[in-house]
Amino acid sequence: MDAMRFSTLAHRAHDLCNPLDEATVDAACARLGLEAMDPGRRPRVIDVGCGKAGMLIRLALRRPIAGIGIDLNPAHLAEGAERAARRRVADSITLLEMDATRFDAAPESFDVAISIGAAHALGGCEPTLRTLRSWLRPGGRLLVGHGYWRREPAPEYLAVLGASASEHGRHADNLALAARLGLEPIADWESDREAWDRYENLYAETALAFAADHPDDPDAAAIVARVERWRDAYRRWGRDTLGFGLDLFAR
Ligand SMILES: C[S@@+](CC[C@H](N)C(=O)[O-])C[C@H]1O[C@@H](n2cnc3c(N)ncnc32)[C@H](O)[C@@H]1O
Repeated sequence: MDAMRFSTLAHRAHDLCNPLDEATVDAACARLGLEAMDPGRRPRVIDVGCGKAGMLIRLALRRPIAGIGIDLNPAHLAEGAERAARRRVADSITLLEMDATRFDAAPESFDVAISIGAAHALGGCEPTLRTLRSWLRPGGRLLVGHGYWRREPAPEYLAVLGASASEHGRHADNLALAARLGLEPIADWESDREAWDRYENLYAETALAFAADHPDDPDAAAIVARVERWRDAYRRWGRDTLGFGLDLFAR
């Protein structure tokens, strides 16, 4: 079935489509330095692969921003716009349905750049760090959330993910790469097992509930098969193999 449709259905109940816990997300938002920026100017913030604009909404609730969210998924963006309106921060957020590689930002034009669980949108971890760095003004903040290997991935696990071992490094490798690109590390966090389990369980339950409620949907059987395969792989290998890091840098 269409991967975007599956992702949309499985993430229906998620606010953020990533395995970070709320305390970590809050800590990262607090460290972006928005409050210290010129009160007479809205900080310019970009979130690449913004999903339902969960990060931009959190930041706009802290203070008015000039936020831009880019995503390919129109359903996620529509939900993000609805949520922003409900939280009365719609005037802080512009959502663009487009491929991130086509976004043409002026160099050094943003105060904050974000990519969480969406490094593939700009071609991987290194191109994401390079591109977002180039969009940031000197002193601007870069927040990147990405998968990493806790240990060597089993070939069977890679087959289920449809990934290659070279897709991720260790968390420390990602931090070292950022340092080589001239980014100054401020803080980094890792998703813990409980937060991953919460994310995966909600993902599976939501997809299965859709299939149960829509038995005549042409994708119903494929959804169940996919969730069962994914859940089995998570239990067998995923918990011990795949980590998720959130790194904050200054340019
Ligand atoms: C795992 S989700 C993370 C969403 C959001 N950052 C969050 O943490 O809630 C990845 C997002 O990247 C988007 N995406 C994937 N490829 C993209 C591309 N080439 N351009 C823009 N967005 C893309 C997907 O549509 C999806 O919403």
